[in-house]
Amino acid sequence: MRISVIGAGYVGLVTGVCFAKLGNEVTFIDIDAERIEAINNKSSPIYEEGLDKLLKSVRIKACFDFQEVLNSEIIFICVGTPSNEDKFILLDQIEKAAKEIGQMLERREEYCVICVKSTVAPGTTEELVIPILEKSGRKAGTDFGVCMSPEFLREGKAVYDFMNPARIIIGEYDKRSGDILSKLYRSFNAPIMRTHLKIAEMTKLASNAFLATKISFMNEIGNICKKLGIDVYEVAKGMGFDDRIGSKFLNAGVGFGGSCLPKDLGGLISKSRQIGYEPNLLQEVLNLNDEQALRLIELLKKHISLKDATVGILGLAFKPETDDVRDSRAIKIVQALLQEGAKVKAYDPMAMKNFKKLFPQIEYVTTDKVLNSDAIFIVTEWQEFSELDYTGKVVVDGRRIEKARGARIYEGICW
Ligand SMILES: NC(=O)c1ccc[n+]([C@@H]2O[C@H](COP(=O)([O-])OP(=O)(O)OC[C@H]3O[C@@H](n4cnc5c(N)ncnc54)[C@H](O)[C@@H]3O)[C@@H](O)[C@H]2O)c1
Repeated sequence: MRISVIGAGYVGLVTGVCFAKLGNEVTFIDIDAERIEAINNKSSPIYEEGLDKLLKSVRIKACFDFQEVLNSEIIFICVGTPSNEDKFILLDQIEKAAKEIGQMLERREEYCVICVKSTVAPGTTEELVIPILEKSGRKAGTDFGVCMSPEFLREGKAVYDFMNPARIIIGEYDKRSGDILSKLYRSFNAPIMRTHLKIAEMTKLASNAFLATKISFMNEIGNICKKLGIDVYEVAKGMGFDDRIGSKFLNAGVGFGGSCLPKDLGGLISKSRQIGYEPNLLQEVLNLNDEQALRLIELLKKHISLKDATVGILGLAFKPETDDVRDSRAIKIVQALLQEGAKVKAYDPMAMKNFKKLFPQIEYVTTDKVLNSDAIFIVTEWQEFSELDYTGKVVVDGRRIEKARGARIYEGICW
């Protein structure tokens, strides 16, 4: 099929490259010149396992020009939906993309399907996207179709997850729209759930809110276990045998970050308040996560004074196998260390360039130099941190790196 992908970020680029690999004709439209150039030069502008190789193996095109959508059967909207200070999901990128598509619809004779893939609050596709598209004079359901199909990929494993989804959720304006999108997914070995637009939107937010809750729940259990001298990882192992609980997402630690869990949880909380329901449980999940990052600082203060101390940070990305630092735990931790008057030396295998844009004032060094600091924080569980020699060091571990337990002073955040 002929596909356009609006927004070639983590989701858009992976979606487009994977669909191209599956034999579709794909065009990316973005507003970022560097991204467009990199894609056309077959060099992935983001780090994702296997993406660069896949990009080199497919025929795709990237450009600024929305005219390209005139030729497409399906147009995916994959632009960013960051949140504001009140945690509402911001829709200006969606609005702009929808307006541009609407202008093209004015000039288009044939039917096509516009599919929102960005994460949005329930009601956004019906109440915002469709009215903007219909300003073209064209009518949803008659002249064009509309779907909302959320993306569930994990950064770092995005290509694998896209190609091997646990489920495909297709929210559809009408049957014709859903039939066309389902055709694109027909080769996938996964259940396809076809449903209403709002249900698709809510399924995404609810899934991320649940995962965030599972993490904060285990962190709370871990905080209690630490005080009782109980190993929370053994507790989690025992819990995980119960298939009502499941063994995944039970690793207590420094909490969740990234561009999705905190933002989507915050978006659901704000939406809920807006309609008059106070989501106490979800708010606590977020509060606990905010405090969890700062527990590393409190644990270190038991052993050294932070003023003028040099603290080495291992891990800046919000998780391993990515260069993404959006809402990374390291941000909160570095901010707090600088406020305490500490000097910071940091290392990450992939994310130093992105982190430097946020914190140009700290030192970016090799692991040797991080290990030579007065104390070391382990913030992201990169595999290579399991191979370092921590002998004689002071380590506060937010991610349970077994090898670090050989340090002279070792504090696990929840164990
Ligand atoms: N990153 C993830 O792991 C993930 C997973 C599932 C869902 N999502 C959701 O998918 C959406 C995209 O996330 P992302 O991480 O890929 O974002 P991103 O910031 O990496 O990419 C967004 C892209 O859209 C482009 N863009 C912005 N406005 C545009 C416009 N008007 N026209 C064309 N291009 C435009 C930007 O230049 C950028 O390249 C968000 O709603 C996010 O919540 C993300």
